[in-house]
Amino acid sequence: MQTAYSKEELRVALAPLRGRRIVLVPTMGALHEGHASLLSQARELAGAEGCVVASVFLNPVQFDNAGDLASYPQTPLQDLETCDKCGVDVVFMPSPDTMYCSDRSIVLEETHLSTVICGASRPGHFAGVCLVVNKLFNLVQPTDAIFGKKDYQQLAIIRRMVRDLDIPVRIHGAEIVRGDDGLALSSRNVRLTPEHRAAAPAIRASLLAARAAYESGTAAEIVCEAVKQKLESITGVRVDYVELVDATTLHDVSTPHRLSLLAVAAWFGNVRLIDNIELSRS
Ligand code: PAF
Repeated sequence: MQTAYSKEELRVALAPLRGRRIVLVPTMGALHEGHASLLSQARELAGAEGCVVASVFLNPVQFDNAGDLASYPQTPLQDLETCDKCGVDVVFMPSPDTMYCSDRSIVLEETHLSTVICGASRPGHFAGVCLVVNKLFNLVQPTDAIFGKKDYQQLAIIRRMVRDLDIPVRIHGAEIVRGDDGLALSSRNVRLTPEHRAAAPAIRASLLAARAAYESGTAAEIVCEAVKQKLESITGVRVDYVELVDATTLHDVSTPHRLSLLAVAAWFGNVRLIDNIELSRS
């Protein structure tokens, strides 16, 4: 495995691999089993002849909250070990100064899918994601890239960016990886208090109950309210949103037989957790 800390090192590492399938897994580090699963899927997709590139970059531009950025876990040495174990060929680990010019002035804003759910409460977040992912696509020039479905809105926005800007990369969505208790794996989970860590699987449990209720005919508002009440009954939990939206447009469910998405974001103390579940009603 090679590690590139600069754009030039990345260019040199990738030069002999051009023409092969190159699968990119962008991450912000603090890698856990969920990332390991993305990396292993990338390895499988790339095959023996292809190449897997992982980026480990805590992107300051996508944080709308300075405290969240400052407390985001960083474990670079373990991340390198994880990448190595998962068969990554090249890790790109730039610093913010390497990645961005101090007088950068281009903004890349998706204006429809970004206005709802997480985008509504995190202004600028998805513009920061689009900017960094676009830069990674330009630097790595992957044939394929993999993103997890826990960040469902991010995945939808990246698909839209690729479509609207004609970026020649195939985007793959990977299923959410969960702990045995159902909690979606996230780098932020390590920041939960023991009490909140013990209570957090309630998110998944309430989404499963909501899916059963919705698919047997309960109205969307009632389903969402039940999830909200269940989570807000936990001490120290504040729900940011619980919304049922069309899984493609991320806006209101106007064609109920299409796939829908029930998405939730909630603060467990000062840690914001997100999760979602796909639903369909015939
Ligand atoms: O999902 C993430 O970890 C980040 O948003 C991403 C895609 C690596 C961009 O910084």
